Amino acid sequence: MVIYFQYMAKGRAKSKPSPKASRRVATSGDIEVSTYLEIAKEIDGVQPAAAKEAIPSGEREAVIVIDFGSQYSLLIARRVRESQVYCELVSPDTPWEKIAPLNPKGFILSGGPGSVYETDAPMTPSYVYESRLPVLGICYGMQVITHQMGGQVAPGAKREYGHALLHLGGVDSPLFANVSQSTAVWMSHGDKIEAMPPDFNVLAYTDNSPFAAIGNDKNIFGLQFHPEVVHTPEGKTILKNFIYRICGCQGNWTMGNFITDSLTKIQKEVGKGKVISALSGGVDSAVVSTVIHRAIGDQITCIFVNHGMLRREEVERTFNTFRLNMGMNIVYVDASERFLDRLRGVTDPETKRKIIGEEFINVFEEEAKKIGKVDFLAQGTLYPDVIESASSGSTAAAKIKSHHNVGGLPSRMTLKLLEPLRYLFKDEVRQVGLELGLPEEMVWRQPFPGPGLSIRIIGEVTKEKLEILRAADWVVMSEIKQAKLYRQLWQSFAILTDVRSVGVMGDFRTYGYLVAIRAVTSDDAMTADWSRLPYDVLARISNRIVNEVPEVNRVVYDITSKPPSTIEWE
Ligand code: XMP
Repeated sequence: MVIYFQYMAKGRAKSKPSPKASRRVATSGDIEVSTYLEIAKEIDGVQPAAAKEAIPSGEREAVIVIDFGSQYSLLIARRVRESQVYCELVSPDTPWEKIAPLNPKGFILSGGPGSVYETDAPMTPSYVYESRLPVLGICYGMQVITHQMGGQVAPGAKREYGHALLHLGGVDSPLFANVSQSTAVWMSHGDKIEAMPPDFNVLAYTDNSPFAAIGNDKNIFGLQFHPEVVHTPEGKTILKNFIYRICGCQGNWTMGNFITDSLTKIQKEVGKGKVISALSGGVDSAVVSTVIHRAIGDQITCIFVNHGMLRREEVERTFNTFRLNMGMNIVYVDASERFLDRLRGVTDPETKRKIIGEEFINVFEEEAKKIGKVDFLAQGTLYPDVIESASSGSTAAAKIKSHHNVGGLPSRMTLKLLEPLRYLFKDEVRQVGLELGLPEEMVWRQPFPGPGLSIRIIGEVTKEKLEILRAADWVVMSEIKQAKLYRQLWQSFAILTDVRSVGVMGDFRTYGYLVAIRAVTSDDAMTADWSRLPYDVLARISNRIVNEVPEVNRVVYDITSKPPSTIEWE
């Protein structure tokens, strides 16, 4: 999956971050790999909104979120999908022709930063009301309904932000079925409703908002609060009520259905063609390769380039899972010497990234040529990447390219893209992986950067340093897993610094390396907090590293958050 973050500080950005300086970076080797390939081909990812193929055919149904730009819009889509109904996010200017094939059962209008009275404020497209389908407006979405249907919205004296207590207004509405009479909700709005549109009723209120929930008898509803966030504990029930009781959805979006349907679609699309994919050991490339293999068997060949910067046992585990357990066709290339040769004497982080990206393409292409005629390249593109590419008007490749400086690669391959996961969220991909029988360990792997350990060795990357880091990293990983903290942490790893310090061991003085430990919690890597690991876990890690890795005599724990630091050290 690809994430976005404020591009801050350190060697990566020397200038001060501007508000527009948000960049995206891959969080796993998967996207890195597929992005290198995309860049090499100089192709843009296919834009979204041709998604009818994502929904299980037969009883097609979907809820459509009109995205007015709230930071929570994607979260609304996830909540709907968690309720087993397919959901897509579309911009307010999306034409009806693109939506109709999804067979929408209802619309949700998201929140947004704007005010309905601003010039160019985005409005609900008229087909939403003309369709006579149920509509749920959230925050800005509610204000737009009010504004468009004859009510009045006014700037609030002050922004209402935070918890509020919602009281049901005594009107029996299916939207609030099984919701407590008084329940906590999360508010975040500036403007507020002064007068409801004609024929609307108050369904619920708070101390500050007399119109916290409104509705009419045409199944048009507005909520001033955010039901999609965890701070609204009964929000899921409200959304489910909308989806099932009001829109009348059946709930056919399950990963089992998705797989069954994908198999037929992949078979149809590929026919007798040949597919290649790049395996990296990460979740997305693993799932994409497995689902395609399930569909077309040996017509897919996976190329697994070992660039020599992987963690201990990663190569063996990946290889065994796919070749031995899944019986897949794998071309394994140990190119570590080649990468190390090119990295000799290189200390600049961005140059390391660039070299690894370029060399990866070279190796991949050489191997692909040996396979003979190939028609498709499988990629683990996910829904958030698709959405972001569409809304920003630039591709993931362009963005990562700018981040990783992997530019100027000639257009050499002429493959079609096969992206069976492009409508899935990461958690859905994990479920698909589990249903396809991939090991939990692989499905729940923490993100690992494409350039691997090279950006966790400060300074020049050498074979010796890679071995030291692998040994230290192995200790961190096993102790974190032992303490059952692995899944709670976004990432946890060791860094081999170029600092050496004096120590004492027995009767001898030592002069060894300083290893740093980094463990962070995060939702999306845009921001991260250092994890308050228990002292005894830290003590065990430190103790084991200095005992088991002779070259290291000092261990420190990184207690900075992002921003101002980044997660990786380089
Ligand atoms: P930073 O260090 O920028 O990292 O806070 C944010 C997330 O991105 C990952 N990362 C990378 N992933 N190639 C990748 O595929 C890279 O060059 C790269 N640099 C950072 C990092 O592990 C974290 O999850």
